Amino acid sequence: MSIDDILMHDETIFRDIRVFNPDYVPDKFLHRENQTDALTLCLRPALKGGKPINAIVVGSCATGKTTAIKKIFERVEEYSDRIVCVYINCQLHTTRYNIFSQIYQKIFGHLPPETGIPVTRIYEKIMKHLKKNNQALVVALDDVNYLFHSKNANKIFYDILRAYEEFEGVRTGLFAVISDIEFRYILDKNVKSVFIPQEVIFDPYTYGEMRDILQERVKAGFYPDVISDEILDEVTENTSSIGDLRVGIELLGVLGNLAEADASRAIEDKHLKTAIQNTSSISLKNTLQNLQGKEKKLLELIVISEDEQLTAGNLYKNLNNVEPLSYASFDRLLNKLEFLRLIDVKFTGKGRKGNSRIIFLRFDSEEIGKCII
Ligand SMILES: Nc1ncnc2c1ncn2[C@@H]1O[C@H](COP(=O)(O)OP(=O)(O)OP(=O)(O)O)[C@@H](O)[C@H]1O
Ligand SMILES: [Mg+2]
Repeated sequence: MSIDDILMHDETIFRDIRVFNPDYVPDKFLHRENQTDALTLCLRPALKGGKPINAIVVGSCATGKTTAIKKIFERVEEYSDRIVCVYINCQLHTTRYNIFSQIYQKIFGHLPPETGIPVTRIYEKIMKHLKKNNQALVVALDDVNYLFHSKNANKIFYDILRAYEEFEGVRTGLFAVISDIEFRYILDKNVKSVFIPQEVIFDPYTYGEMRDILQERVKAGFYPDVISDEILDEVTENTSSIGDLRVGIELLGVLGNLAEADASRAIEDKHLKTAIQNTSSISLKNTLQNLQGKEKKLLELIVISEDEQLTAGNLYKNLNNVEPLSYASFDRLLNKLEFLRLIDVKFTGKGRKGNSRIIFLRFDSEEIGKCII
């Protein structure tokens, strides 16, 4: 087929191709009733003039945390204007200024003017507005661990949760979302004095739950009979072995495209084989794409030193040669790569204080190398 043929060809097996996009919010949100109820209960007091209950939302990647919060916020806001719900992605917004600008935007419908306004002014306008209108505020800080990389968490938590000290009667709450249980203790250490949350756990989906969810996507995204039960089983098998529902959803989209490229009305085994080869590293690729400059550089150094026993001390020297930085900054970068499960860091019990560490790659160096170098 020529490029024109491919682009113009208007027969399609997709009922709605957007269903496979990463930001698609599904109509049916399956197997998360308990978590949805628990979070909604945290908001309930705010509808009756009380204070929202703080929550920490914990669960590994693609367990529906973001989707749950977005759906609940949407629903609550349809239901009542006594509560302002603000969703903030902390991967994108890490400074106090950014975060309060997002809250400001939600309340006033536009961002604060770019220049010259200090955070305290923005903060004051937000709180005065809430007080005047007798509205509660709930802020969901999604992927809140990103605030710890920039050490802003404590101040931001404090600003939000202790607003009532300065603005009497203002009612505020926080949902903090983390995708790694190991971050729990960092959160506690940093914000314990102000943040005493209720814990809502998003357990990993079982095979059966994953299959139900993928089946729903199939129904919404493809015309009938495009994919057989057997192929859907294999997609689920693959998804469940990787443990990342996103991979399965993306895989379905890729399969649809491959079948169309073949001018086939159904997805066949050969499409599955090709797609699995290409997508097994999707989740790795996504992670690598989101790395910042220095994080990437550090990972590159780990990849090229893979044959030797790499200590944290030597790694620091290597990185410091190309990108001068303090040991504390280096340590933060290392923690981040460990958090993203790209590397393992093991204490050896050796070294001056017995805290020398060795770094291991968790993925094949060639596979990582292909994506970053
Ligand atoms: N119960 C569900 N029903 C339908 N789709 C779901 C369900 N849970 C998750 N998904 C889908 O899986 C993908 C990942 O979900 P989501 O972004 O909510 O996960 P998350 O827990 O926030 O992940 P992360 O920790 O990586 O941010 C999305 O495409 C979402 O639509
Ligand atoms: Mg999320």
